[in-house]
Amino acid sequence: MNAWPKSSALLKSNEQWIPGGVVSLNRKSDPNICFEKGKGSRVWDLEGNEYIDYQAGFAAAFLGHNDPDVNEAVQQTLGASTLLMGAGPTNLEGEFARLFCECVPSADSVQITTTGSEATYHALRIARAVTGRDHIIVMQGGYNGWHNDVACNVISSLADVGERVSPGEYPFDSLSAGIPAQHKALVHVVNYNDIASIEYIIKRYPVAGVLLEPILQNVGIVKPLPGYLESLRKLADENGFLLIFDEVKTGFRHALGGYQQLCGVRPDLSTFGKAVANGYPMGVIAGKKEYLDYFIHPEKSKRVLIAGTFNAHPLTTAAAIATLRKLAAGGVYEHVNKLGQLLEDGLNDIFSATGRPFKVARQGSAFCVYFMDHAPVDFHDILKHHDFAFDKNYRLQLIEKGIFNFPLPIKQGSISFAHTVKDIEETLEKTKIIVAQL
Ligand SMILES: Cc1ncc(COP(=O)(O)O)c(C=O)c1O
Repeated sequence: MNAWPKSSALLKSNEQWIPGGVVSLNRKSDPNICFEKGKGSRVWDLEGNEYIDYQAGFAAAFLGHNDPDVNEAVQQTLGASTLLMGAGPTNLEGEFARLFCECVPSADSVQITTTGSEATYHALRIARAVTGRDHIIVMQGGYNGWHNDVACNVISSLADVGERVSPGEYPFDSLSAGIPAQHKALVHVVNYNDIASIEYIIKRYPVAGVLLEPILQNVGIVKPLPGYLESLRKLADENGFLLIFDEVKTGFRHALGGYQQLCGVRPDLSTFGKAVANGYPMGVIAGKKEYLDYFIHPEKSKRVLIAGTFNAHPLTTAAAIATLRKLAAGGVYEHVNKLGQLLEDGLNDIFSATGRPFKVARQGSAFCVYFMDHAPVDFHDILKHHDFAFDKNYRLQLIEKGIFNFPLPIKQGSISFAHTVKDIEETLEKTKIIVAQL
């Protein structure tokens, strides 16, 4: 029996005018539940079911859904008639950029886009302009957006990528048709946490940059091994390529200065999105002035184009300023880290009692339960050892009990500032019940 008839009907209706009925294919899921509203840690679907939400709009709502301070800032901006005036710089974008650079250690200056994908697109263009090289390295199991350079190799199947390769590279497992073969040849996909494969590629190709999520958070939580990020930094310095951290998911979620603040490794460029405006659409490219200044390079042949009708849209920018101010005011990271620990401890107790192999992987407020006997070091490790069928079932049962994790195995869960100890306790009680039944 379909527990979400209204959601199914809406999807079917929208399919008449929107191919597949969804406007981002990453939102296609089974079941495809349609949500009507969100407040704090909770979301409500069309059927009126209430859920404790750990999806957070794909990790964007770090303060919680419809945070009152962020919404207030947006409403004030609307009230002040500052909506897209259409020409010239604004106070808002200057104020945001100043705040941002105060927060993020490697940011001398920033440029502002509407999405994370645009941010990674521009970061790669800068890397190519700076180095005069065309090849780039990305990670198997990393997601960095939808454009030609990066639309590949996230949750690949064994059939698509084959056995583990090290040192070496995986075939470009395209997420999209329409990417020219010549372009794919410029993209090299390697294991995360695998320095030997980076060395292998840079010996063979002129590499402009390595682009990676410093923690792989699109396949759960896969953390850097000790020394990995430091070695990347060293290789970049020695070989003249740019180290680019894609902090679209890790940025502002793990610390005010991004994961780079916690790990102490300074990338040349980094990209942000999602949590930076707590659910309003913004992407940011940040980095050293000498690289960001390629956007205004005096020589036309070296100048990188940035343009966008909606870049630093006043409503979004007001939301981002309010978000950064709230994060900087203190207390947020302590709160979410405490809840994260509570959840991790509770899940450890519940799964230990089952005798089933499992590993709760967590960084602050971001978590994932792997059904394998160790914390994965890369995506191939997950592919080989994780029980995907059990994971899928586990997520479905949780959803039916009112705990919303995205119904796709190894998708990372997100706790927000709006979650409470009571939310975590309720989550654990329900998890205990379903795990006993599984
Ligand atoms: C790490 C990472 N980079 C880039 C992106 C692309 O951001 P957007 O969807 O805003 O284009 C995402 C989106 O999920 C992401 O997780």
